[in-house]
Amino acid sequence: MKEPLTDFGFEHIPFSEKTERVKDLFSKVAYRYDLMNDLMSLGLHRCWKKSFIHRLPLQPESRILDVAGGTGDIALQLQKAYPHLRLEISVCDLTPSMLEEGRDKAINQGLLKGLDWFCGNAEQLPWPDDSFDIYTVAFGMRNIADKPQALKEAWRVLKPGGWFFCLEFSQVTIAPLAKLYDAYSFRILPKVGQWVSNNQEAYQYLVESIRQFPNQQQWQQDIQQAGFQQVSFENWSGGIVALHWAQKA
Ligand SMILES: C[S@@+](CC[C@H](N)C(=O)[O-])C[C@H]1O[C@@H](n2cnc3c(N)ncnc32)[C@H](O)[C@@H]1O
Repeated sequence: MKEPLTDFGFEHIPFSEKTERVKDLFSKVAYRYDLMNDLMSLGLHRCWKKSFIHRLPLQPESRILDVAGGTGDIALQLQKAYPHLRLEISVCDLTPSMLEEGRDKAINQGLLKGLDWFCGNAEQLPWPDDSFDIYTVAFGMRNIADKPQALKEAWRVLKPGGWFFCLEFSQVTIAPLAKLYDAYSFRILPKVGQWVSNNQEAYQYLVESIRQFPNQQQWQQDIQQAGFQQVSFENWSGGIVALHWAQKA
C-alpha cells in the first residue's frame, strides 16, 4: 500500500519524511533564526509573543510546557516578566541546535532558574499524564507532521483544568491586507532568507507552510476533536496570526 502524503510547504512528501525534513531545515537556520524572525515579521513577532504571554492564566509556581519552543523566546519572556511567580517551565523542541541557541540566550541573560530544556517530539511527549498547568506552542504547530496526535498529547500531559494556548500564523481576514501580505511573503521574504541565512529554500518553506495550516475555524474544530473544551480564538493583526486557547475539563 502506498504511504499517505503530507505537505511540506507546497510540496507533497511521504508522511514519515516530514519530521526529519523539518528538523534538518531548522538545524540549518538555527544560528540565524532570531535575526530572521525580526526581519521577516518586521519585529512584530516580539509584540505578538509579549501579548501571548500576558494572556496566560498564570499562578504562582505554575508548571508550563512550551512545545516547539525553539530558541526559547516564550519561556525566557515569561521568566523575565514574572520572576516573582517562580514558574517551572519546560521547553521541548525537536531540533537540538534550536534548543542550544535558547540555552545560550538564557545563560547570557542570567536566566537559569525555572527552565528545563528537552529535545523531543510533540507527537510523543516524554511526560506522564496530568503533568502541566499550561501548554504553550507559538509558531510551532504548523511544522508538526501529525497535528491531531500532537493535540492529543497536549491534552494528555495537561492536568484537569489545565490550559492549551496556541499562537500561529493564520488566514488574513482583511482583503487588501491579504494582497499586500501575499506579495511580501512570496516575493520579499525568501530573498531576505537567502540574504541573511543563505537559505532561500528554508524561508520559502516557512511562507508556504503558513498557507497550508488550517484556518481559524478549522483549527478550532481540530482542537475540539482532541477533547478540549471552551475552545476559543482571536485574530491578531487582521488574522496574520491567531491565538487559540482551550481547557482540559
Ligand atoms: C518557527 S519555530 C518556533 C520557535 C519558537 N516557538 C518561537 O516562537 O520562536 C518552530 C519550531 O518547531 C520545532 N518543531 C517542529 N516539529 C516539531 C515536533 N514534531 N516536535 C517538537 N518541535 C517541533 C522546530 O524544531 C522549531 O524549533
